[in-house]
Amino acid sequence: MSLKLSAAAPTVPAEAQNGVWLADIETGETYAPFDEIRYTGEDGNLLEVRYAELPTFADFKGQGRGVWRYHAALPFRTGVTLPEGDTPLHKAPRIRDEIGINSLRVKHEGMNPTGSFKDRGMTVGVRVAKELGVDRLACASTGNTSAALAAYGARGGMETLVLLPAGKVASGKIAQAALHDARILEVDGNFDNCLDIVQDLAQKGEVYLLNSLNPFRLEGQKTIGIEILERFMAEEGMFPDRIVLPVGNAGNTSALYKAFRELVQSGALNPTEVPRLTGVQAAGAAPMVEAVEHGWDGIQRWESVETRATAIRIGNPVNAPKALPGIRETGGTAIDVSDDEITDAQQSLAKEGIGVEPASAASIAGLRKLRDRGVVDSTENVVCLTTGHLLKDTDEAFKAGGDPEPVANDTDAVLQHIGAKWYARPEAAFTASGIPTKSLNWDFNTCSRHCSPTSSYW
Ligand code: F0G
Repeated sequence: MSLKLSAAAPTVPAEAQNGVWLADIETGETYAPFDEIRYTGEDGNLLEVRYAELPTFADFKGQGRGVWRYHAALPFRTGVTLPEGDTPLHKAPRIRDEIGINSLRVKHEGMNPTGSFKDRGMTVGVRVAKELGVDRLACASTGNTSAALAAYGARGGMETLVLLPAGKVASGKIAQAALHDARILEVDGNFDNCLDIVQDLAQKGEVYLLNSLNPFRLEGQKTIGIEILERFMAEEGMFPDRIVLPVGNAGNTSALYKAFRELVQSGALNPTEVPRLTGVQAAGAAPMVEAVEHGWDGIQRWESVETRATAIRIGNPVNAPKALPGIRETGGTAIDVSDDEITDAQQSLAKEGIGVEPASAASIAGLRKLRDRGVVDSTENVVCLTTGHLLKDTDEAFKAGGDPEPVANDTDAVLQHIGAKWYARPEAAFTASGIPTKSLNWDFNTCSRHCSPTSSYW
């Protein structure tokens, strides 16, 4: 098995172009990266991108921000960019205290241009499509990949085709694909069925596949891992002990593992410093969790899947052969969470000001559960990945949040309804009507001396 943290740097094969080539992760067979279109090895095994030279952190210094800051770890210097990456690494002190760990950061990938981490993969993937000279791009999607493909395809001036499971994609994502002018094909089936079809179309040479089965997509997504390490070290003076992330097709898990492996191979990272990769799935779609719990080498496809977190409603994670070794070798684990646990976590994040879609909140829900079970220690420094923005799925946000309250078109009625607090001049509180008519002279200092901020004059 070539996917080991301890693997030696590979020798450069004859097929390499500019120090880049593709390798079959099972057989080691190598292929030229840009001469022909290839998504898998001869036996259908997954491919990965390999490099003659691997960077250390010093290679990223002074290279700007975002995905292309890390071009020394990528196949090109730049790509079709909007730009993407450089996402916030929020503190979440209330959740940290409630869960009871040393430090917690939330890497909010929902802050990318189309609102999910998929943009990092697409900036590289669409660049490769240009290199190959293809002009019709396609993906199967639970929504976010389709939004990213549509936007980056549009930016690159290319035709895009997206296959979506009918009735199971959040409306914000479909709206994005529609407005960026993708052709949207709604399939009467689930995501896995869509991926089967788009793979057939790609094998027939009809479309260029930009799902995470395409190894170049994962190169862009590697930058999440590098960015976390760089930023955490700058702000916390160390690398995180653990990274917790939602898992669907397991592309991100594979990408983060590859980022860490390459940094170990270049000598930038000690194997003991690699964060524990911890995957979280919805209980209704958890084949990876099943495989980790049973110690299986591969997953068994779930034909029937269901979860409120539609982004990760996936029963056949195609990147499992790359992701399972990553979880195992880093000493991580995988856990499933219920839809209600996901919603609770979405609400907790929202109370910290961090707005995410349900799948994203699975990371916090999983961390909470692992801490409760004592798998995560109180001394740990953890980064949770939130993969998509709240506005992607407004239906679920409305359900998880409070309801709008109808009020009359009248200030007195509104004040009565909200149960007014009095923060302005105390004397103005006692007008004839009992309602402050002149509240323009705000003076918080005066107020805080004379009245408590919770006092009500009703
Ligand atoms: N979180 C969100 C918001 C996603 O959209 C996805 C995947 C994942 C997590 C899981 O990531 O597949 O790398 O394990 N969405 C894909 C899509 C399948 O079509 O948008 P993964």
